[in-house]
Amino acid sequence: MKLKTIALAVLIAAAVLPAQARKAKKFTHETVAIPAVEARVIAVETAGTQLLLQVDSRGEVRTVHYGAPVGDPAQFTDFFTGFNHNFGAPNAYPTVGGRFNGQEALHVEYPDGSQNTELYLTGSEVSSREGIVTTTLHMKDYVTALEVDLVYDAHQAEDVIAMHSVIRNPGKKPVRLRNFASASLNLAADSFELTHFYGGWATEMQIDRELLTHDTKVLESRRGTQNTQGNNPSFVLSLGHPFSETDGATIAGALAWSGNFRISFELDQSDRLNIVSGISPFASHYPLAAGKSFTTPEMIYTWSADGAGGASRNLHRWARKWGVWNGGQVNPTLLNSWEGAYFNFTTETLLRMIDDAADMGLEMFVLDDGWFGMQHPRNSDNAGLGDWELNTRKIPEGIDYVASYAHSKGLKFGIWIEPEMVNPDSNLAQAHPDWVVQSPGREIYQSRNQWILDLSNPAVQDFVFGVFDRTVSLSPNIDYIKWDCNRRVMSFGSPYLGAEQDRFYVEYIQGLYSVCERMRAKYPKLIVQCCSAGGSRVDYGALRYFNEVWPSDNSDAISRTRIQWGTSLIYPACVMAAHVSAVPNHQTGNVTPLKFRFDVAASGRLGMELQPKALSAEERALADRCISSYKGYRELVFGGDLYRLASPYDGDFYALMYVSPDKRRAVVFCYCLRFQNCSIATHPFLLQGLDPALSYKVTEQNVDSSCWWGDGRSFTGAFLAGGGFNPAFEKANTSAVFVLEAQ
Ligand code: DGJ
Repeated sequence: MKLKTIALAVLIAAAVLPAQARKAKKFTHETVAIPAVEARVIAVETAGTQLLLQVDSRGEVRTVHYGAPVGDPAQFTDFFTGFNHNFGAPNAYPTVGGRFNGQEALHVEYPDGSQNTELYLTGSEVSSREGIVTTTLHMKDYVTALEVDLVYDAHQAEDVIAMHSVIRNPGKKPVRLRNFASASLNLAADSFELTHFYGGWATEMQIDRELLTHDTKVLESRRGTQNTQGNNPSFVLSLGHPFSETDGATIAGALAWSGNFRISFELDQSDRLNIVSGISPFASHYPLAAGKSFTTPEMIYTWSADGAGGASRNLHRWARKWGVWNGGQVNPTLLNSWEGAYFNFTTETLLRMIDDAADMGLEMFVLDDGWFGMQHPRNSDNAGLGDWELNTRKIPEGIDYVASYAHSKGLKFGIWIEPEMVNPDSNLAQAHPDWVVQSPGREIYQSRNQWILDLSNPAVQDFVFGVFDRTVSLSPNIDYIKWDCNRRVMSFGSPYLGAEQDRFYVEYIQGLYSVCERMRAKYPKLIVQCCSAGGSRVDYGALRYFNEVWPSDNSDAISRTRIQWGTSLIYPACVMAAHVSAVPNHQTGNVTPLKFRFDVAASGRLGMELQPKALSAEERALADRCISSYKGYRELVFGGDLYRLASPYDGDFYALMYVSPDKRRAVVFCYCLRFQNCSIATHPFLLQGLDPALSYKVTEQNVDSSCWWGDGRSFTGAFLAGGGFNPAFEKANTSAVFVLEAQ
């Protein structure tokens, strides 16, 4: 009887007492024991860099060094420099919880509402494959049992360390990830100058530079898609000195993720810089189910003592080998139909463009937007997206007919799709209203007259893969796909995810990548360009699946100098599609000489995007010469080491060069961007990366008469580095290209 009364009282109390009061009963001063571990230093090393992770006897891990090798890592076992000991040092993967109050990489909300996590090392392991040494640190929170692996892939030859984390919920209930960064890096230096990239449509990858001051600077995208319109998930950091192409400790970083990102730089009161980078938690407090794990995208870091030039060469070498689909491959020159025909073409238009492309020596023809949609024909950007059947009123003979014609002329053939999107004016929008990104009861905003398909939905993933697959199946002669994505997310919402909208931004991109995995499993050799209204999806997440990007819809050679220079700080020239277009330029109205347009485009993957019929005989002859000479040196552009000699942001002249790995060949591009002072001597371009002892024969390309007295002569690498080039530029928008061959 007595027992029954007590049980009843407990039940009543449980029903009546607020949850907090009930839980308060559990609070004691008891703590969960943290097993002691051996204090040591774990070294993550590449040929020329060291990242040192200090483990104390409690198992807390701190990054105590990243930069030039400092010898025996054990020197750091119980010692670190650059931290104010009163404030302590942030952990290698700082959490909400523990003693450190700086910015966090991990913030977890547990089922009981608690939000503290403290990670301790439980073990580590090292494995290696093909020039990559992987160090994995197993970490654990002893109160909640949450586990985190910190993974460091050290790419030995390229001096790149790619970092990511794996967060595991071994509990019986879901937890919520409020912040789940890929990596955290702590640095000490006298100053930190940050170079990062901003820009909008047609003005991508512009340079911004600032000296970091105390508190936090954040680079972020909340656009969902088109993540690199606005800024790019990458940066260059000059340590203890202003930005330099050639000298001084410099770090470059890039996040391999095509969705919302957040890279934050916190300079604390002890002058330490902490960089936390990863997926942006914006509207994404991600639920992690019991027993599941979440793998964050890679944050790619390199360090160089040779300034931004050294750092970007490291990244480019890494990208060609690891970061870009078929990164070492030389992709064909091409004529794209967009600026030459827009939506207005028939089979006849295309065949004549193919004839002209073949005559000029180009190697591929790409049919851009406008070839599909019968009931809702794609004759403008108002209609047709989603209805991927051929418009037989434009091309009655079929895509295979056009593709086979291109092949018969010795050209490859490519075609455009935008599979993630749908026009309201389409059969697809009517058939599958629940596939559209939307929030119930709210207007579905249009941008470029289109809506976005909800790639978090597996049925939509199947559809998008099907669009790709069916398009490639239109002809056995399709060699190239241009995958476009012309709008960002607004007023987000996934009908598929129901009440779990926190998953949308993450799972849209995971859905995109899952389609890309299927695309590459089936079509490993196909060349696929990543385009997003120009350069709105230029990141190393996408490049794992794509061969190249369209860095900007701005095809004006003057604008391109800045866009391509910015892009080159992080991404290699082999991914940079650059097209010669008509004048006045369709985006800016600028008029520049054809040679200048060719010489700017030839520093990337050369293409043309105009109506060849509009060129004069003289212009056609120059085009032939430029294309043919490009074929002679393009291997240097695709696979050589880039040296930026003069920045288009700094003065009247711009120059860059690519040098073969054995230093026996090089190509130098020089441009005059402004000419306002007739008595000024042209800037001497001091060449870099050559062997001082070798003698190089210099041959100017694409010209009728030479603009440098040295054309045809030989000079030592030492002379070219010390005396340099001094082309006779006497007008704005003139240019010169030189090939150097060791004798
Ligand atoms: C935007 C792309 O950037 C252009 O190159 C072109 O493909 C258009 N879309 C077509 O709609």
